[in-house]
Amino acid sequence: MNHQSLQERKLYDLHAPNASTGIINGESSNVLNWDDVRFKWAYPMYKNMLANFWTPFEINMSNDRKQWPELTAEEQESFKKIIGLLAFLDSVQTDYSAKVADYLTDSSLAALMQVLSFQEVVHNQSYSYILSSLVDKQEQDEIFEYWKHDDVLKERNNFIAEGYERFVDEKSPQAFIESVVYDVVLEGLFFYAGFAFFYNLARNQKMVSTSTMINYINRDELLHVNLFAHIFKETLNENPELNTEENIQFVTDTFKQATELEVNWGRHIIGNKIDGIHMDELEEYIQYTANKRCKLLGAPVPFPGVTENPLKWIKAYKEVDEGKSDFFEQKSRQYTKVSDDNGFDEL
Ligand SMILES: [Fe+2]
Ligand SMILES: [Fe+2]
Repeated sequence: MNHQSLQERKLYDLHAPNASTGIINGESSNVLNWDDVRFKWAYPMYKNMLANFWTPFEINMSNDRKQWPELTAEEQESFKKIIGLLAFLDSVQTDYSAKVADYLTDSSLAALMQVLSFQEVVHNQSYSYILSSLVDKQEQDEIFEYWKHDDVLKERNNFIAEGYERFVDEKSPQAFIESVVYDVVLEGLFFYAGFAFFYNLARNQKMVSTSTMINYINRDELLHVNLFAHIFKETLNENPELNTEENIQFVTDTFKQATELEVNWGRHIIGNKIDGIHMDELEEYIQYTANKRCKLLGAPVPFPGVTENPLKWIKAYKEVDEGKSDFFEQKSRQYTKVSDDNGFDEL
């Protein structure tokens, strides 16, 4: 365990270069010139993040509002639980990303982290926006409290929160690198049973406005996962003492545990009570997603037997967003400039 502490980024440093000397504990003048940054992937990522810009206000909820009473009781229940979960995750994520930004000694990565934090704020707003058009204020408030009482939810959320808190308490390079892995679990795995639920509703022409927002959130999260994956790999490169077999094994082990929690949650919200999604397939989809994230982080996959996405229809959303289908007709997409760099085909 490395207990060396992390330095906070200085507000400015006359004697340091504009392009930093390291992601953590490096030197940086803290001046941001996108044409003089340490990593060549940083600016394209910034452009993609801005190209994804959206706000919930653009999405008209009137059809969803009409359909809401027609959903089955199980669908409504799962819908509310998932929104309650997402609201917790995105709230915590806003703050974690802001805290982590203070210890990145690279002005361009700190800038990307601030854009990421802002996007988490928009995600959170979308949950209030969705609920305020479907349920009364009292019920909305209750849904935002679910995370405090639902045991399955609590177990999952604690898993992440403990990893984040260790970083906040210890501020060591080791706790930092571990928290980055928890981040990729949060943004790259813990949303996915929920995403599948909404996409399944949408392919049955239900709650399409809500799913449109979920689709935008999903797209943002893919960029966030890529940002944290870059940070993970570059930090290991720059700090050989962190680039250990134990840390690589930590990735695989953490994703294995996280998959169990996500599958449990999937049983809780989807089980075999939602038309169109079989629990076996959802389980494999979660394992498939965990494998993808481990590969991205350069670690062995936890489920070598799972090589294909069993929920093929989720792939269809790529085409939807490329304008090949008019599945989502909620808003004009002319400024949604999806490019290959933003990892959309990872969906
Ligand atoms: Fe988010
Ligand atoms: Fe995110």
